[in-house]
Amino acid sequence: MRWMTSCLGAFVVATAAVTSPVLAEQAVLPAASGLGELARQRGVQLGTAVALDPLETEASYRDRLAREFASVVAENAMKFEFLQPEIGLFDFRQADRLVNFAAEQQMQVRGHTLVWHWALPDWLEDRNWSRDELLAILKYHIKTVVGRYRGDIVVWDVVNEAIAKDGTLRDTLWLRGIGPEYIELAFRWAHEADPDALLIYNDFGNEGFNAKSDAIYQLVRSLLEKGVPIHGVGLQMHLRADRPPDPSEVAANFERFADLGLQVQITEIDVRIRQPSRAGDLERQAQIYRDMLQVCLQAENCTSFTTWGFTDRHSWVPTHFEGWGEALIFDKNYQPKPAYRSLLEVLSETQAEP
Ligand code: G3I
Repeated sequence: MRWMTSCLGAFVVATAAVTSPVLAEQAVLPAASGLGELARQRGVQLGTAVALDPLETEASYRDRLAREFASVVAENAMKFEFLQPEIGLFDFRQADRLVNFAAEQQMQVRGHTLVWHWALPDWLEDRNWSRDELLAILKYHIKTVVGRYRGDIVVWDVVNEAIAKDGTLRDTLWLRGIGPEYIELAFRWAHEADPDALLIYNDFGNEGFNAKSDAIYQLVRSLLEKGVPIHGVGLQMHLRADRPPDPSEVAANFERFADLGLQVQITEIDVRIRQPSRAGDLERQAQIYRDMLQVCLQAENCTSFTTWGFTDRHSWVPTHFEGWGEALIFDKNYQPKPAYRSLLEVLSETQAEP
C-alpha cells in the first residue's frame, strides 16, 4: 500500500489547454434541430456515440452530428485505458474535446464508462494487485474522472457488462480482485464525486426476458435495497436485423424497472446486417429502430435513445463482427437510410398525438 500511496501522490492531471481550431470553428453551427430536437420535445435524449478522429477531421461528420443529435457519448475516449494510460497519470485531452464540442452545441453528455473489464490499460492488467490496491485504484479513478466532469456530464454508465449470459457475475479483474462489492462501491464513489449525476448500470443482451436480464433486475433491486445510489439501467441493444426483439417483451422489461423506480436508457443501439446485404434488409433494420424508439417513447421511464455511432463510415461492427455491417442510420456518405426515416416518422407521429 505504501507503494500505491507514493505513486498516486505523484499523479499529474493533464489538462486540455489546447482547443482544436477545427472544433472552435464549429461553434457557429446551430444546436440540434433534427431527430434530437424532436425527441427532446418528448422527454427523450436522442444521442449518439462519437469517435474523436472523424469529429476532428470530417466536416460532414460534425455537421450531421450537430444537426441530428441532442446528446453525445464518447465511443472510446472516456474508457479507463484512454483516461489513465499510466498509473496516476490522467489524459483528459480527447474527453475534454468532446465535452467542449457538446457545450458549444448545447448537447448533453453521457459518460461511458467507469468500471468495465475491457479497455483497461496494460499497467492495470499486467500485475497482480492486492484487494486494497485495487480498491484504491478504482476509487481514485472514479473520483478523479467524475469529479472533473461534475456538472458537465449529467449521466454516467458506472458499471458496464458485469453480468454474464447465464446470469452469474462476469469473471473480471474487478470481481477477482475485490469481490462482488466492487459494483456497489463504484456507485457510491461516483455519487460522492457528483451527487447530481444520474448513475446507470449498463449491459447488452438484456432487451427481453432471459437469465441475464433477470440477473440484472435482481442485482439492481438488491442495490436499491441496500441504499446504493443507482438511478437506471442501460440496455445497449447491439442487435441483428435478422433477429428482431419482441417490442412487447422489451416494453414489459422496461416496466419492471419502472416498478423499482428506475429509469431505462437505450444506450448503444445498432442493428447489423449480414454482408452483402439482400433486398429487404434495410427495411427490416428500419423496423427494428422504429420499434425500439416507439417502445422508449411510450415508456415513461425511458429517458434516452443513443445510437452507437451514426454513419456506416465509422462503426465498430465490421471490425468486430466479420461479415457484418451497415448497422447505423446514415450510410457511408452520410446519406439517410430507411432507418433514419423510420425514426423521423416515429417522432413525427408521436408529435401529432394529443
Ligand atoms: O487505441 C488503439 C490504437 O492505438 C491502435 O492504433 C488501433 C489499431 O487497431 O487500435 C486502437 O484501439 C481500438 C479502440 O477501439 C480505439 O479505437 C481497439 O483495437 C478496438 O478493439 C476498440 O474497440 C472498441 C471496443 O468498444 C473496445 O473498447 C470499439 O471501438 C467500441 O465501439 C466498443 O464499444 C463497446 C462499448 O464501449 C460497450 N458496449 C459494447 C460496445 C461494442 O463493443
